[in-house]
Amino acid sequence: MRWSLCLGLPPKDMPMHDDGPSALQTGTTPILPITGKGLFVRRKGRDLLDVQDITIGGRGTTVLVGPNGAGKSLMLNILAGLKAPDRGTVLWNGVPPSRSRYCRFGMVLQSAVLLRRPALSNIEYALRAVGHDKVEARNRAHRALADAGMTKLASASARVLSGGERQRLALARALAVQPDVLFLDEPTSSLDPASVLAIERMVKAASDGGMRIVLIAHDLAQARRVSNEIMMMHNGRIIETAPTDRFFDAPKSAEAAAFIAGKILIS
Ligand SMILES: Nc1ncnc2c1ncn2[C@@H]1O[C@H](COP(=O)(O)OP(=O)(O)OP(=O)(O)O)[C@@H](O)[C@H]1O
Ligand SMILES: [Mg+2]
Repeated sequence: MRWSLCLGLPPKDMPMHDDGPSALQTGTTPILPITGKGLFVRRKGRDLLDVQDITIGGRGTTVLVGPNGAGKSLMLNILAGLKAPDRGTVLWNGVPPSRSRYCRFGMVLQSAVLLRRPALSNIEYALRAVGHDKVEARNRAHRALADAGMTKLASASARVLSGGERQRLALARALAVQPDVLFLDEPTSSLDPASVLAIERMVKAASDGGMRIVLIAHDLAQARRVSNEIMMMHNGRIIETAPTDRFFDAPKSAEAAAFIAGKILIS
């Protein structure tokens, strides 16, 4: 499943409406806002997700925070149409997620999933998958690599890249497709400070350019640096959503205050 994801293609096992094999390339309808209503997941007597109402729209960067197991990845996967909730609905601009619009959606995971081919070719492949012709794909791939500061690595095999380079390449590939919205699930968790900043710069530039970003982070300093909105989850619920400064300076909930103070939250 992750293979298809990294190419901008909807995975085969995705609970998503299939509107035809070639429809991907016709996906010109915007997918924002993404809305979730009554999202509920329960396993072995435990509520993993219970989110009544969520909307991802407009512009800017939302950072999703919360302790391990809070339901952050689960919620993003459901909003991305990659997992089905037990109950509830996800709509992309008013209609259920469908294959044809998947090219308007970007996702970068904690550990990059790359093709065993040169860096440039990884990006070209994704661009071809969403319908660009050969020449256009090559030009865009070169520009994306340059924006990521990776021109020198264009012909290096993805297999030999360092962790930080792999993550930058995965992000460059996701950005090259120019999605309406980009979800990043802990994209910098195993990177050194310089690589973290490189990724943050790319995310910020994309956000400033109008791309809607939702990023999961454990590093609260990073959350503060890149976001204009914080959403905190705990025990499968959204505890608080607030502009970044307000969240950190005057959290409304006891859980958020404790979390910011570095206290362990009891489930
Ligand atoms: N398919 C599943 N079956 C059973 N439990 C699951 C399943 N998927 C997720 N969970 C559980 O749901 C909870 C939320 O998981 P999730 O991965 O969303 O947490 P998270 O907030 O992303 O945590 P982390 O910060 O550790 O990545 C966890 O307790 C996890 O064990
Ligand atoms: Mg997670």
